[in-house]
Amino acid sequence: MFTSFKPESSSSNLVKWEVKSPGVLLLELNRPQKLNALSKGLLESLAKLLQLAGESEEIRCVILTGNRKAFSVGADIQDMAERGVAAYLDPERLDYWRSVETFPKPIVAAVNGYVLGGGCELMMLCDIAIAAEGAKFGQPEITLASIPGDGGTQRLPRFVGKSMAMQMVLTGQLFTAQQMRDAGLLSEVLPEDALLERAVELAQQIAGLPTIAMRLAKAAILAAYELPLSQGLTREQQLTEQTFSTEDRAEGIASFLEKRKPDFKGNNSS
Ligand code: CAA
Repeated sequence: MFTSFKPESSSSNLVKWEVKSPGVLLLELNRPQKLNALSKGLLESLAKLLQLAGESEEIRCVILTGNRKAFSVGADIQDMAERGVAAYLDPERLDYWRSVETFPKPIVAAVNGYVLGGGCELMMLCDIAIAAEGAKFGQPEITLASIPGDGGTQRLPRFVGKSMAMQMVLTGQLFTAQQMRDAGLLSEVLPEDALLERAVELAQQIAGLPTIAMRLAKAAILAAYELPLSQGLTREQQLTEQTFSTEDRAEGIASFLEKRKPDFKGNNSS
């Protein structure tokens, strides 16, 4: 398949990339010997690839995955042993996290195996999370006499409620994919062999829809986690208003009235 997306900076191979279908970029965490522990190098590769994907007119949706044994087991304990708190507070490392957090296009996480600590926190930065039925989730930092420090204590209560967040963080115990779906952390649980196929299907669906409205929709939902309701509703109104000035919005309405399929221009509209 022809693709203009050809990053050269991913030569470290700690994150593999592939354009799976038009507009869909698959990123695969690739440090299998350490269960995809989030070394600075791995996070740097991820951040660089996301930056390029963000700038690319071609890429409309990203899938983030790991392997069968692990999506990711979280922060690199070896690095923390060597560098102490400097490993955690490393400004570049924090910037790499920030670039995932602020990535404007949709990210679908397709997780399997261990999803622990920073791995679970990374998954929570994705917009849709689906998992294989054998995946195991947890925030085990307390067993290392620490606490989740890359967003876990703030996002978990918002996503799974207080009691489950407390149980995860205070006990460090592991939970099944089914439990995490029941708690609201995942939208779908699938047989292992169906996971990637379903992620691609979802990403293709997203990639076929108007890109500006897609970006605004993501921004609007993320605002719900930042703002009080009244301010969130105002933000929603501003973002909805912006959709009215796009060519795609005019095309969406015209195609409905003319009873035909819309021909969205995506990034070309303004
Ligand atoms: N960081 C660095 N290396 C890790 C790692 C991590 N988080 N987790 C596993 N590894 C390494 C192991 O050291 C091992 O390497 P070697 O073969 O070179 O010894 C390799 O990955 C395979 O791991 P195991 O042999 O332990 O595999 P297992 O199947 O027996 O056990 C596991 C799997 C239960 C997930 C176990 O590896 C484990 O408990 N890992 C730690 C998970 C964890 O505590 N994550 C939270 C990290 S702390 C954090 O996120 C933030 C913070 O503290 C502020």
